[in-house]
Amino acid sequence: MQRGDPQSADSKSVDPLVGRLLEGRFELVELLAHGGMGKVYRAIQRPIDRDCAVKVLHQPGTSTEVRTRFFREASVAARLRHPNTVRVYDYGASEDDICFIAMELLEGRTLAELIREEAPLSPSRALELVRQICASVSEAHDHGIVHRDLKPANVFVVGRGDDEHVKVLDFGLVKQVGDPDPVTGARRAIGSPPYMAPEQARAAEVDARSDIYSVGVILFELLTGRVPFIGSTSAEILYAHTARPVPRFAEILEVNDTSQTFEWVVRTCLQKEPGERFGTMQEFLRALRVVRRELRGRVDGPVPLRLERGQVVLPPDLSVSVNRVVTPVPALPQEVLAPVGTMSAPSYAPTPSEGPWSKPAVWAALCFAAALLLGGGWWALRGGADAGGSGGSEAVSMSMVLELQSTPAGAEVLETSGALLGTTPLTVELTRGEPRQVDVRAEGYRTRRVWLTGDRPQRVILLDPE
Ligand SMILES: Nc1ncnc2c1ncn2[C@@H]1O[C@H](COP(=O)(O)OP(=O)(O)OP(=O)(O)O)[C@@H](O)[C@H]1O
Ligand SMILES: [Mg+2]
Repeated sequence: MQRGDPQSADSKSVDPLVGRLLEGRFELVELLAHGGMGKVYRAIQRPIDRDCAVKVLHQPGTSTEVRTRFFREASVAARLRHPNTVRVYDYGASEDDICFIAMELLEGRTLAELIREEAPLSPSRALELVRQICASVSEAHDHGIVHRDLKPANVFVVGRGDDEHVKVLDFGLVKQVGDPDPVTGARRAIGSPPYMAPEQARAAEVDARSDIYSVGVILFELLTGRVPFIGSTSAEILYAHTARPVPRFAEILEVNDTSQTFEWVVRTCLQKEPGERFGTMQEFLRALRVVRRELRGRVDGPVPLRLERGQVVLPPDLSVSVNRVVTPVPALPQEVLAPVGTMSAPSYAPTPSEGPWSKPAVWAALCFAAALLLGGGWWALRGGADAGGSGGSEAVSMSMVLELQSTPAGAEVLETSGALLGTTPLTVELTRGEPRQVDVRAEGYRTRRVWLTGDRPQRVILLDPE
């Protein structure tokens, strides 16, 4: 990204798009910056004369596929309503194939600039910034959207002092990680090397926990002033994510005022195995809440936190809840519904030594179910014969109903054995801890093999044309 340097000033005066009116609605007034995916302009939305930022993608939408994907991804971003997420006003493509997305015009600086100017930050400031990033991303995860490119350049910091708050950019505008290269067929790793999760570095499947890793890198950088893995080439950095140990804060900072609990939170995000990270942003937020209490002197630190199957286990005398901002999200028209990201199988399956329903497992499952039920979750507790158990703890099981849709609708959903489950839209019953793998296929489209998990009530599978 370049901004405000003499070269940018030059390019502003000659930029061919300044002065253009896109789709008769967005007048490009000034080039603000250019980044990896495109240029960002200050613009005015006609006829309401609203100031906005318009991002014009580098890649012209020459192919139907590029255009379809762009519209699908922009429509996903436009659904998000969290106050810490940049608001997308509109999107479109001009007659000469300029794909653009119009959004709220932000005044301030990116987190990358803030880090350059001010890091390392105090633990409480770093915590507050990251808490807001997590809150934004959590809403997206609730809707099945994985960001995949969380990095300081994609986080804007607005306001100063007590009024400082963040806006996360570029949801849905990131290519699918691991998509095969159209020319070579090889899987591509997409993202920014210093912030990429090990599974992204390997171009394997990503899920919400990959975003948790990236936020962990951002948090590490805010607290220490540098990213955990530095290298002279991207390959070296990517390798380090997959194999090198995360440095201790004490190795980097001369004066380390980060508590043990806070460092544990960062290191938990940065686990190589997704199953050893926080299972969800909500769990990450719960852990941050404990750190915040410690920082405010409300509890004696260090609080001995543990993680069990992606969930934070607190000491018995402590409880924290997370205030969720629940924002109504407008439904998408059927033709643009998009999953943006395949969630891979979560790590909730019990460890072999515990057996499927040992006491701790049942207790954790019950607490989890109760929390979800209280919070309006979609898991249902089932008991007795229905669960196929024989009394006691084994009689308890949890099931959920997943509403599976696809674009295009009417796709066949098959077990990997080939047995037909039905056609979309389809209701699929799942048992907690037992993700199901299915193939979704439709004539003229590439078949997709996906994991169906219980982490959300609705799933939309987008099929790519053959
Ligand atoms: N809504 C906005 N309001 C004001 N400035 C913005 C807005 N969105 C983006 N920018 C500016 O434009 C810059 C470029 O954004 P862009 O996303 O294209 O690049 P990047 O984040 O550096 O790279 P990448 O393409 O990998 O995301 C941002 O870093 C930010 O300074
Ligand atoms: Mg960006």
